[in-house]
Amino acid sequence: MKKLLVGMVAALGLSTGAAQAQGAYPARPITMIVPFAAGGPTDVVARIVGEHMSRTLGQQIVVENVAGAGGTTGITRGAQAQGDGYTIMMGHMGTHGAAPALYPNLRYDPAKDFAPIGLAAGTPIIIVAKKDFPPADLKGFVEYSKANAAKLNGAHAGVGSVSHSTGVLLNSILGIKPTLVAYRGTGPALNDLMAGTVDFMTDQIVNVAPQIQAGTIKAYAIATPERSPALPDVPTTKEAGLPNYEVSAWNAIFAPKSTPKEVTAKLVDALDKALDDENTRKRLVELGGVIPSKTERTPDALQKLVESEVARWTPVLKEAGATAQ
Ligand code: MLT
Repeated sequence: MKKLLVGMVAALGLSTGAAQAQGAYPARPITMIVPFAAGGPTDVVARIVGEHMSRTLGQQIVVENVAGAGGTTGITRGAQAQGDGYTIMMGHMGTHGAAPALYPNLRYDPAKDFAPIGLAAGTPIIIVAKKDFPPADLKGFVEYSKANAAKLNGAHAGVGSVSHSTGVLLNSILGIKPTLVAYRGTGPALNDLMAGTVDFMTDQIVNVAPQIQAGTIKAYAIATPERSPALPDVPTTKEAGLPNYEVSAWNAIFAPKSTPKEVTAKLVDALDKALDDENTRKRLVELGGVIPSKTERTPDALQKLVESEVARWTPVLKEAGATAQ
């Protein structure tokens, strides 16, 4: 019987491996590596999108938080995983844009070592501070930071992370060198911001929106051309007097490069359905996430985005004198 089956599969021109992958995939839970601590923006986006993807795929997507080195530890593990569709990862503008400029010995190439699945959410950047930070507005923030830089602590999630690279850009524009305090993600960093043990950070809206709405931290401005519907009272950097600080981040799903097309196609379809799902969209938009359009969420669009972001961030970070040390 087995011989007959193998013969039929061969006749169909499918290798048994591909047939198994095509037919049975996914036959067991899928691990999604989130390269930062639980509770941060990448984790939040992964869990929201992953929940609906699990329904389409018929198997649980299990998030595994693998933090360290600005997200490059987890992404390196993902890049080196079996290309069988059972390990995928949530990368972002840091791991797949800024990292090459900051890690000369980076053990992956964002543009070559992955099978891009698709963009999961755009995540505008917000300048936030502890609740009792003295400045009342962005102009005051700029003046105060320039006058007190040596006393200030800026939080980030590790060299090359979104919060690090966007923070380096802000500090470079302001011409300040505060003490930078690294965390395993901006989830833990936000806890210290709320506790007042760290002064400020630039973070993705999906992480800080609930605390801004609750009044437990201060928001000075959003670094996108338009205000966010989730935070209508937070001015843009342009409105607030810092027009040249415009920066936004994004989170996207990748698979190891060797993952077969018939497997990645199922992941692409599941992501597309998640981003079309009303409840999934609502949960992301409520946090200030931006839903990628149909054309923005294709694998090709993500490949092009990675290439353009590496090209964009490399000179910016080098000029700002940012290094991994
Ligand atoms: C996180 O999930 O903690 C963030 O994405 C870290 C960062 O890149 O700032």
